[in-house]
Amino acid sequence: MKKNNSFLLDLIKSQKDNFSLDQSFYTSKNIFEIDLKTFFFNQWVFVGHISRIKNKGDYFLFKIGNESIILIRENEDKINAFYNVCRHRGSHICLEEEGRLRKFICPYHAWNYDLSGKLLKARMMDNDFKPENWSLKKCNSLVFEGLIFINLSDKPSDFENFINPIKDFIKLHGLGKAKIAAKKTYPTKGNWKLALDNFHECYHCQPSHPEYCHVHSKEYIQAYGAGSNTGPESKMFNKKLEIWNKKVKKMGYLTGEYSEKKFSNFFRSAERTPFSNGKLSETKSGKPASILMGDFNEFDGGYTTIGPSPFNSIIMTNDFATLFTFIPKSPTHTEVELIWLVNENAVEGIDYDINEIMWMWDETTKADKRIIENNQKGVLSSKYEPGPLSKMEVGLDKLKKWYLKHLELEITK
Ligand code: FES
Ligand code: FE
Repeated sequence: MKKNNSFLLDLIKSQKDNFSLDQSFYTSKNIFEIDLKTFFFNQWVFVGHISRIKNKGDYFLFKIGNESIILIRENEDKINAFYNVCRHRGSHICLEEEGRLRKFICPYHAWNYDLSGKLLKARMMDNDFKPENWSLKKCNSLVFEGLIFINLSDKPSDFENFINPIKDFIKLHGLGKAKIAAKKTYPTKGNWKLALDNFHECYHCQPSHPEYCHVHSKEYIQAYGAGSNTGPESKMFNKKLEIWNKKVKKMGYLTGEYSEKKFSNFFRSAERTPFSNGKLSETKSGKPASILMGDFNEFDGGYTTIGPSPFNSIIMTNDFATLFTFIPKSPTHTEVELIWLVNENAVEGIDYDINEIMWMWDETTKADKRIIENNQKGVLSSKYEPGPLSKMEVGLDKLKKWYLKHLELEITK
């Protein structure tokens, strides 16, 4: 263990069960940097959908910490991820956030690379210079069901291991045959853990999210609002779930849930649950918002929520999907990116109205941005101290324990 980490180890050990964290976990630059390395850089995180880069040479950038990653389509079947670093003297190569390229041309001295990252041309080099040794550096990446995952670790965990317990929940919805209906970023002036704490409890839903409470029942919000077992059990909801599970099994669709049973590098969850009062989708009217996706031939009255890692969430009705990516930017700034997907054959204005699709999560995420920012402001005060958690913040406490244990292992190895 590094010497300056003994202070952090003492701090980790002094955190109390069922309380929020000490101020420095939400404010310290040092902890933020360790966080990035320990958490974000060690997870498979999806950063976009294949339909964002449909044509050969289409690309977009994903930025985290000091890294800028180029996600680019090489051909119909292949998407590559490269570090945006020229092999000559290190300049960023792609400067625009997105675009289309025939090849990479570094803006500094014009080294050229093809879409597979191979160096094509470098002027005035020695005769023994071997271009084949100077390809762009690849970032671990994989496409699963249309989602583009990256992993910034030098020793990435096995993707199959990672995706296995949640893959059937994702596959059901046919995200590989989807297209982006809308995309929006919510810059949020709060530490990434405050953003995630908020996402892992539904204690705040009743005072802050009238739209969410309009769509979902009180019993669901209590027991499942931030995922299964994140609040006190509701007998009434369990009964509803049992009846719905039977019905949906008969229809031939997947039911059930997944949550981590033992500590590991992963923090995954998934579940399928029913809407209340005959609603079919996560819309204001409860009516469908678009045409069916994936395996569905008819609406089953439920939806699927998946947390592949703390940095992503996938929330899917039978007719659209909302993808979340939480991107830590600084100790007090997190970018929350939302992408709404619909069936690739759906036509805007005919099959779907974008406002109906975006309504709930757009309003809810704007409210979350506001409450997270207020939370951060209070946490910065000299008078902030960790406060006691409620029975409806069990999910937050679970995430917090996973975080502390992971961090302890990282700094003591
Ligand atoms: Fe890219 Fe020189 S740094 S060509
Ligand atoms: Fe919220």
